[in-house]
Amino acid sequence: MIRREVNDGVCFLTFDRPDSGANIFDAATMRDLSEQLDFIEKEPSLKGVIITSAKKAIFVAGADLQTLLRQAESGSGMREFIAEGQRVFNRLAALEVPTVAAIHGASAGGGYEVALACDWRVASDAPATRIGLPETTLGLVPAWGGATRLPRLIGPEKAAEVILKGKLYSAQEALKLGLVDEVVPQDQLLNAAKQALRKQAPPERRASARPGASAGVTTPVEAPRSQNPALTRAAEIINQSLTGSTEESLERELDAIVQLGGTESTRNLIRNFFLAEKYKKQSATAPNEKFVHAAVIGAGVMGSGIAQWLSSRGITVILRDVNTEILERGLEKIEKTYGEAVKRGLMSEEKAKEGRARIMASANPGPMRDVQIVIEAASEKLEVKKAIFHDLDQKIDGTDILATNTSALSISTLAAETMHPKRVLGLHFFNPVSRMKLIEIVIGKQTSEETKERALAFARQIGKTPVVVQDNPGFLVNRVLFPYLLDAAELFEHGVEAKAIDDALVEWGMPMGPLRLIDEIGVDITVDIAFTLENDFGERDVPPTILQKMREAGMLGRKTGSGFYKYEGKKQLPNDAILQWRDKSNSPPMSAEDLALRLVYLMVNEAARCLEEKVVASPEDADYGMMLGTGFPPLRGGPLRFADHFGIAKMVEAGKRHGGKFTPCDLLRRNAETGRTFYA
Ligand code: NAI
Repeated sequence: MIRREVNDGVCFLTFDRPDSGANIFDAATMRDLSEQLDFIEKEPSLKGVIITSAKKAIFVAGADLQTLLRQAESGSGMREFIAEGQRVFNRLAALEVPTVAAIHGASAGGGYEVALACDWRVASDAPATRIGLPETTLGLVPAWGGATRLPRLIGPEKAAEVILKGKLYSAQEALKLGLVDEVVPQDQLLNAAKQALRKQAPPERRASARPGASAGVTTPVEAPRSQNPALTRAAEIINQSLTGSTEESLERELDAIVQLGGTESTRNLIRNFFLAEKYKKQSATAPNEKFVHAAVIGAGVMGSGIAQWLSSRGITVILRDVNTEILERGLEKIEKTYGEAVKRGLMSEEKAKEGRARIMASANPGPMRDVQIVIEAASEKLEVKKAIFHDLDQKIDGTDILATNTSALSISTLAAETMHPKRVLGLHFFNPVSRMKLIEIVIGKQTSEETKERALAFARQIGKTPVVVQDNPGFLVNRVLFPYLLDAAELFEHGVEAKAIDDALVEWGMPMGPLRLIDEIGVDITVDIAFTLENDFGERDVPPTILQKMREAGMLGRKTGSGFYKYEGKKQLPNDAILQWRDKSNSPPMSAEDLALRLVYLMVNEAARCLEEKVVASPEDADYGMMLGTGFPPLRGGPLRFADHFGIAKMVEAGKRHGGKFTPCDLLRRNAETGRTFYA
């Protein structure tokens, strides 16, 4: 709903969607704005128009994505919906009276394009004010005039930066870029807007939104190399926006968004937006417990990462390890992570100092009273972890959660070591903890519902995205990832070049090739995890001989400077030292596409097994977990979403042809037979 009020000759249009904290542009809101314009166009006595919002933290959040997704999935309605928005914003831009957008809160996508159609933009300096055009991150282009008007306003280079990155900017950043014209304290916003009207919109400002205004710039902007087709389309529109007419440019926006809306990649990016919302909400219903005190056992790579993260989130942490020397090293790592956060502008020096001070490192094996949660992150050895859990009964109070960060050991086995198996679960963080959003919450045989709920509340408090997984070897992410990693190593062993394998998967959209990923994880750790998985799952998790040879030779990957590649400083070079262990007799010739499909198929099959065995509750859990945990290409929507789109029958056929570890699981086979998909 848009409220209209005329005061002193100034017409205020206040966006105020009923029963909602957010304003969005759906068809009804657009109609409403159109009717307000009917009124304004017929009122020659008006001195100006101010557009603003009644919401606490939102100006207008953008177009209604539910509607856009429905239109993209059904292949109808998008052209009309977008064209109508263009017509309405054109009328706003063509008003005789001056217009000012008074922006407080999020002004994103369509919610900024409405401001672009005004003559002048004033923003509040409140932290809630975030301004930008994030459409390309959803596989779309700004098509309500954003890709046309912004380059004319601030020049094509800056417009390309804003549109191709899709970031939201603070008021000050927006001012610097020219996205807004003035920044004022929130309580002066409307006054500043009125003054801007009184000064009349400066004529040159109004002219700037017309073609040719920023002429003189000749180098065309270029989209970065990316799998996201929206970037190329947006760059094309930006480049052409300066010369032709507004109508022509808007037509290009319209054609581009309709074409993009018809692609699976765009549908997936919009779906991912809703997945993120869903997972945020999942932990929102958890009980309201505030965690203030935790203990972390083990100060290695993961323990120090977890301690740093918790302390940065206001939780005091007792950090334990076997001796002070190791603890010192752990603290140095923590120091470094804080230092980087400050350098990257994510945190003030003061906040970092406060965070560091919340960590109490101690090699004293005594009791740990008053902690609400213990996270064990000691070496991945069953005997070590069993002893720690056995010991915990004497060290803690009665209510803490006992969590382990194990990668692949059984939660239920560890739980059996304590008198409180109901309070034991897995909290599987990913490396590096400060950058990876996912945690797997792993439910053991005896884990109570209450413990699970508390763990969800904990995840919410520390700002991680939880996926709930039933206890089984490798949980979800490692279980699905490993057959893929191990087969890549096997292909290499049989003569396929490392670069050919890794390039094929990067080309397919993975953030990093599988061999390079093994080097990052560590060849030793890869082999250990593979053995654990092989115990239960057999041939698909057998580590190929070459991995074992590499391990024996101390070629453990990046940490030793040598693995599938040699690492010299920042350079990654071929590693000839491992060629001796290759057996090229069996080298199958394969195109990049075949390589990628063969390897990805193994992930699809394993993800389907996880669903079949109820390790995860839904296809979304499997897909979202894999996207967040491994960088499975968001454009592909996760392994099961990809299978639906690619064709399950085709996959099953290929799996059967290869046989052995490729044999499709029952669920995949059944779906192929009945024509059913993972998603309705
Ligand atoms: P790490 O080897 O860097 O650190 C393990 C630490 O545990 C060492 O500092 C060791 O001194 C300490 N430790 C051993 N016995 C102990 C005891 N009884 N009491 C206290 N501390 C003890 O290993 P990392 O990589 O940090 O792994 C820790 C756990 O996290 C393992 O279970 C691993 O599987 C899991 N994990 C590792 C990931 C990774 O990428 N490194 C990712 C996710 C989970």
